[in-house]
Parts: sequence; structure tokens; C-alpha cells
Amino acid sequence: MINQDDRNGLAGESVVTVFGATGFLGRRIVTRLLERGVDIRAASRHPHQLRGNASGKRRSRPIEADILDPSSIAAAVAGSRAVVNAVSLYVERDEQTFERVHVEAAANLATASRHAGVERFVQISGIGSDPKSHSDYIRARGRGEEVVKAAFPGAVIVRPAVMAGADDAFISTIARLVPLLPIYPLFGDGHTRLQPVHVEDVADAVSRLVSGQVAIDASIFECVGTRIYSFQELVQEIATELNTRVTLMPVPFPLWRILAAASEGFAAAPLTRTQVDLMRRDNVATSDLPGLEELGIQPRDIVEVIRMIAHEA
Ligand SMILES: NC(=O)c1ccc[n+]([C@@H]2O[C@H](COP(=O)([O-])OP(=O)(O)OC[C@H]3O[C@@H](n4cnc5c(N)ncnc54)[C@H](OP(=O)(O)O)[C@@H]3O)[C@@H](O)[C@H]2O)c1
Repeated sequence: MINQDDRNGLAGESVVTVFGATGFLGRRIVTRLLERGVDIRAASRHPHQLRGNASGKRRSRPIEADILDPSSIAAAVAGSRAVVNAVSLYVERDEQTFERVHVEAAANLATASRHAGVERFVQISGIGSDPKSHSDYIRARGRGEEVVKAAFPGAVIVRPAVMAGADDAFISTIARLVPLLPIYPLFGDGHTRLQPVHVEDVADAVSRLVSGQVAIDASIFECVGTRIYSFQELVQEIATELNTRVTLMPVPFPLWRILAAASEGFAAAPLTRTQVDLMRRDNVATSDLPGLEELGIQPRDIVEVIRMIAHEA
């Protein structure tokens, strides 16, 4: 378990490089690590999007790096003590394919980290990642886990469930749409089971793993929330928090996929085939892998997060 007396972890020792540091999860990982007294190299393609981030004497230094570019990877990880890969890709565009980003580039980052003498490597993946899946996205996430573990023995995989928090893309979207739509469309029959987790709890878990203050010896951690909802129950819970009634309508998955393919034509696709594929299967913890509790984290009650998001919607 966590050694609570040693809150500094990697403090004073050197730098942690976070790829995807401007993202929904990545920027919270940066904040948590800064609070633990770690200097951060915050890597992304658009580093200016990183808002001022500092804690005490510790700072995050934004650097421009593309995980698809081996030379920028090498420069980003040089001299780092730990590396986190929190890069996402939900829609394939041109050379940005799931295979290139989630498999090849993840392997390249892990290999470059090993060559640079990095001690800890944390790969953010997702619940349900499966190298044998029929979904291109889910299969790439599963293959990504395999190649990272092969390239960096001792790498830790973190699999979050769908993450909730201010400015999330899931619960906030439902909360915005429920008051607008006379009939709310369900993914399939709405029975897919979800276990949303607070994004801050996942960031906390990653910061503990990076800091090495974890006695448990495991290579995969699943980060899930306190409650399991069917999608239908979740929409109803959000409607209740919004003090509104919602009429639900089942919509078959093949129709969702057609809508998602059309939506991917827009630069900021409101719906993607990846989302549809993820909603086809339960997104809950398996029973045999460690998670937040084993890292000494009591997950926040997701109802509080839903309430907060609903009131801000
Ligand atoms: N959000 C969820 O509910 C959820 C659930 C389970 C698992 N996950 C996983 O958690 C991780 C983080 O997800 P997120 O939702 O925080 O993603 P996000 O908000 O979309 O952020 C993605 C980050 O990756 C960076 N990035 C994208 N392409 C890059 C490239 N080629 N080179 C370098 N950086 C790149 C982005 O910055 P630039 O665009 O500036 O490069 C951004 O900082 C992903 O692995 C995701 O699959 C997310």
C-alpha cells in the first residue's frame, strides 16, 4: 500500500514526462504530480494549450512532441525518471490510425523510455481493452498494452472506466442533451453496464504509480467508480438531478454506427464509431484485477460528480 509518510515520491530526483499532458486526464495527472513535488515535462503537439500549472517550487514545462515522431519522443523522455502515456485517438484521420498511435507509437515511446534509462512507465489504456476484439479501436488498445509490456518490462497499465469530471465528454454531453431532446436515444436497449470513475481519482492513481509509493506488485490496474449503472439508469439519474423527465427510446447499434460514421466527417465529431463500439459491451471492472482501493484511494461517489455536472450544464 501507499506509504503515506512519504508524500514526495520522486521529489528532487528528476523529471516525469507526461505525454498527452494537455488532455482531460493528462492535465490532472500533471497537477497531481506537481502536488507531489515532481517537475514535469508536459508533452503534446499543442503545448500552448497547457494552462499555467505550478505547485510550490515545482513547475510543468510544456514541450512540443508528437508521439508519431521518434525524434521528438527521444528528446521528450531524455533524462526522465518516469514517463506516462496519456495520448488519445478516438477517430482515425490520415496517418493518425489506431494502429499507429495506440500500438506502434506506444511501443516506440516505451522503447525510447527504456533506452533512456527511465525507471517507470505508465500506459493509460481502457477497461475492456482486448487484442482479439472485432472493434479496431478496442483491439488496438489491447495490442498496445501487449507491445508496451514487451518493450518496457515492468510497465504498468492503467485501465480507466469511462471518466467523469467537469468538462468531460460523456456525462456533460448527456446533461446538456437531456433538457433539449423530447426523446432521448439509447445505445441499443440501454442495458450496457457502466461504472463511471471520477477523473481526479484516476489522476491520483497514476501519480501514485508514477511515484512508486505502491507496495502492490501488479502490472494492470482497473480504475472504476463506486456504482454500476445501465446506460438507461445513468440517463435517468442525470435527468433526476436536472429535475426533468426523460423519455427513452432504444436505437439499434447498426443505426448508431451509420450516424457515427457520418458524424466523423466533422472536425470535432460529436459521435464516433469508437464510442458506439465501446457502448456495445459492459464497461465495468473485472473481478480479478487490482484498482483504486489497492492504491489506497477511496473512489468518490459518482452521484456527487453527476450532481455537480448537472448543475453546471
Ligand atoms: N476520457 C475517458 O472517459 C477515457 C476512458 C477510458 C480511457 N481513456 C484513455 O485515457 C487516455 C487519455 O484520454 P483523454 O480523454 O484525457 O484524452 P484527450 O482529452 O483527448 O487528450 C489527449 C491528449 O493527447 C495528446 N495527443 C493526441 N495526439 C497526440 C500525438 N500524436 N502526440 C502527442 N500528443 C498527442 C493531446 O494533445 P495535442 O492534441 O495537443 O497533441 C492531449 O493532450 C487515453 O488513452 C484514453 O483512451 C479515456
